[in-house]
Amino acid sequence: MCGIVGAVLTEGSVLEGLLGGLRVLEYRGYDSAGVALGLEGGVSIRRKAGRIEKLEDDLRAVPLADSPIGIGHTRWATHGPPTDENAHPHTDNQRRLALVHNGIIENHSELRAELEAEGVTFSSGTDTEALAHLLGRELDRSAPSLAEALRRALRLVHGYYAVAAMRFGDEKELVCARQGPPICVGVTPEGSYLGSDVLALIPHTRDIVFLEDGDVCELAPGRMEVTRIDGSVVQRASHHVSWEEADAGKGVYPHYMLKEIHEQPDVLARTAFSRIDEARGDVNLGHDELGDGGWSDALLQSIDRVQVAACGTALHAGYIARYLIEGLARIPVDVDYASEFRYRDPVLAPNTLALAISQSGETADTLAAQRLAREKGCTPAAICNVAGSTLVRESDAVVLTNAGPEIGVASTKAFVAQVIAAYLLAVRLGRARGVIDRVQGLELVRELRLLRPSLERLLSEDHVAEIKAVAGRHLNAKGFMFLGRGINYPVALEGALKLKEISYMHAEGYPAGEMKHGPIALIEPGMSTVVVNSRGLVADKARSNVEQVRARGGQVICVGSDPESLALADEAIEVPRSSEWLSPVLNVIPLQLLSYEIARLRGCDIDKPRNLAKSVTVE
Ligand code: G6P
Repeated sequence: MCGIVGAVLTEGSVLEGLLGGLRVLEYRGYDSAGVALGLEGGVSIRRKAGRIEKLEDDLRAVPLADSPIGIGHTRWATHGPPTDENAHPHTDNQRRLALVHNGIIENHSELRAELEAEGVTFSSGTDTEALAHLLGRELDRSAPSLAEALRRALRLVHGYYAVAAMRFGDEKELVCARQGPPICVGVTPEGSYLGSDVLALIPHTRDIVFLEDGDVCELAPGRMEVTRIDGSVVQRASHHVSWEEADAGKGVYPHYMLKEIHEQPDVLARTAFSRIDEARGDVNLGHDELGDGGWSDALLQSIDRVQVAACGTALHAGYIARYLIEGLARIPVDVDYASEFRYRDPVLAPNTLALAISQSGETADTLAAQRLAREKGCTPAAICNVAGSTLVRESDAVVLTNAGPEIGVASTKAFVAQVIAAYLLAVRLGRARGVIDRVQGLELVRELRLLRPSLERLLSEDHVAEIKAVAGRHLNAKGFMFLGRGINYPVALEGALKLKEISYMHAEGYPAGEMKHGPIALIEPGMSTVVVNSRGLVADKARSNVEQVRARGGQVICVGSDPESLALADEAIEVPRSSEWLSPVLNVIPLQLLSYEIARLRGCDIDKPRNLAKSVTVE
């Protein structure tokens, strides 16, 4: 989704910093980019359809005059195609100000008609431009500051937005506001900065203020003031973010996705190891920045049901959480797409823990599901990767996944961290409720430590080479089916999602037991089926799927630790043994690598797959 940056400096030029910020936000997904710089009495704007490099080429060919104030934007087209004219920033008819926006202005047609009737000329097909003209109109009507013009304009707007605007009149004025999509700000003596996410700000500061819905923030070097739309002043605490600037780089890897796949042994350590309490055969769900994370024994003991809501890969982690929490803590769990949950008027039992799972903590549907659950009396809780995110701030109890920034659009390390966090939560629930005793607890937490060498083995050069070879042999398959059973059924869903996201090959994930109820009709020579099967309760059931597919001329790639299935398959990707509860953490690694290698061989843009956005902050 669109990325926003902005800065106002005491002195010097803001342009390089803005372009750097936009490059950091590229991962969110975009199809045009632009910047605006303040010039005394006006603004200069440059915007281009396509990648940021096109904008940079243009700026090199015809440079803009240096300025200490500016805003920038990467646009993910919603209203109007991705053209130069529709790219942001937008301005008013007198070119006094510039404005960028992420989100949707729902009443833009009415606003546009009203403004046109007043003589305003529009130059784009976007919903955003109406807001730029509204600001201009408020300045015409003698709004005393840009912040006041923005507050007045926003009172007329219906929709979801993160917006930033600036002008360079008598003073340098940089403002931003939020209703829905996130925006955060940071202040240093040298300058003040705003951005769609933390990554754009950490080159400047790691003390970050996350705006709340309905906030308007005015920025100047060394200071900021937050008001509500009615003008009342509010205080917002800053959060110290521990991410490093280098975390946002690719390191030695050609793609973020590959870097993030290889980080997973460290992610396991960061998410789990410091939380293990061997003496008590238990775990601590808390975190440096969050104390006990809100997980008091009283809360854990009061839960009668868990309702998980999430989207995409996080939903697959949610399905695994169901097996873990039901299996280990014996609490019933429901799981739903956040986008369905929010509109189906769900019936929720008393004492339900509403567990939202999200990497970003900003996904619009997940936030809406969580708010609905709270309204219906549930206790809102989260498994989330971003410490100051909206989801974390709106939850009573949180397990932070500590995976570090995830830039690759196709989620990998965040998924593994979510599954591990769900395992920790299941163990803690079981211990707090007396379902798991100390000895069992100790056994369960020790299993976590055993995963690390297994993950490292799966990521060794030999293993990766083996998967590359498999990828090469299935590159031109007619399609892929992914089958898994029990706790590895969601792993099959995740394998199929990864492959379609980055290689654009058709892939379906199914519970293995469902194959004979329809999907088996697809099996024929040329069709590749990945069967995920580890030793455990349902291994012999999934094994029969291998035979059924082969009997119909389909090709089987078996991933897992079940020796008989591996022996029966056309291709065997052996995964080290682990407890069945933790087998998804290992089994997903070859599936991530397989998708990556197939996408690479097919020449796909792995880190920026077509049509996808990393963070979906609107419906
Ligand atoms: C987008 C991303 C997915 C992600 C999903 C949920 O669709 O492309 O990779 O799984 O959003 O995101 P969240 O930040 O809530 O985990």
